[in-house]
Amino acid sequence: MRKLLLTLALALIPGLLMAAPKGGNYMSVDVDPHDKQSLQRGAMLFANYCMACHEASLMRYNRIGQDLGLDDALVEQYLIFKPEQQAHDVMTNVMTEADAEQWFGAPAPDLTLYARRHGPDRVYTFLNGFYRDDDQPFGVNNIVVSGVSMPHVLQDLQGLPEPRYEERDGRMVVVGVEEATNGRLSPEEYRALTRDLTNFMDYMAEPVKAERERLGVRVLVFLFIFLIVTYLLKREYWKDVH
Ligand code: HEC
Repeated sequence: MRKLLLTLALALIPGLLMAAPKGGNYMSVDVDPHDKQSLQRGAMLFANYCMACHEASLMRYNRIGQDLGLDDALVEQYLIFKPEQQAHDVMTNVMTEADAEQWFGAPAPDLTLYARRHGPDRVYTFLNGFYRDDDQPFGVNNIVVSGVSMPHVLQDLQGLPEPRYEERDGRMVVVGVEEATNGRLSPEEYRALTRDLTNFMDYMAEPVKAERERLGVRVLVFLFIFLIVTYLLKREYWKDVH
């Protein structure tokens, strides 16, 4: 039995290590692929505020519909703002990366897999990390991407935070942002909104996550019961030998 437990522990270690949080000074966000209402709100925000510049070219509108419980009519009403697109299309836009590069000085990256590559904390911190910087072309900078080429597209909702400075090695550096009070939303409401948006981007980067987690729990329960049965069986077989 002790050997069995040891084997089990060794088998679990790589999984636990992989689940360890990533480094970096990011704000932490609690995403939940089972919270469909949050994902629906996030999808609408993404379609409204981000798809003018960004694509999610590996995702189809109706896949989101299926996963989040929206039929094609609702998908077309709330998520599609381009007359030439339909529910079964991938989420592309007309602005090419070359256009973006010319207009903004940097291409607006495809965001389908962004959260999977960089983690949801980075997305959340980026969306909460814009601050006023009059030396920048759009008058804003970002604590995650210094010298950012993206305008603060949610400024109307959040307002424009002032930077928070700290002295490091004799120089004043920006270490965070103050709470903005000149937007349409309160700081709490803005954080809730960016959490929905981050939750959606995390779902989009791995749409099967909710299903995988559900399945994972069932598999673990099955393995546990199987372990007990196997152990009892082993005891039964070896009873007469000892
Ligand atoms: C007006 C065009 C525009 C809109 C609208 C826009 N972005 Fe961007 N975005 C950009 C550009 C340009 C970049 C590249 C910035 C750079 O590299 O400096 C970018 C970069 C990003 C990045 C990558 C940051 C990194 O790690 O380098 C993320 C994440 C992102 N945008 C999220 C969003 C989200 C979420 C929305 C909707 C709320 C949005 N963007 C709306 C233009 C836009």
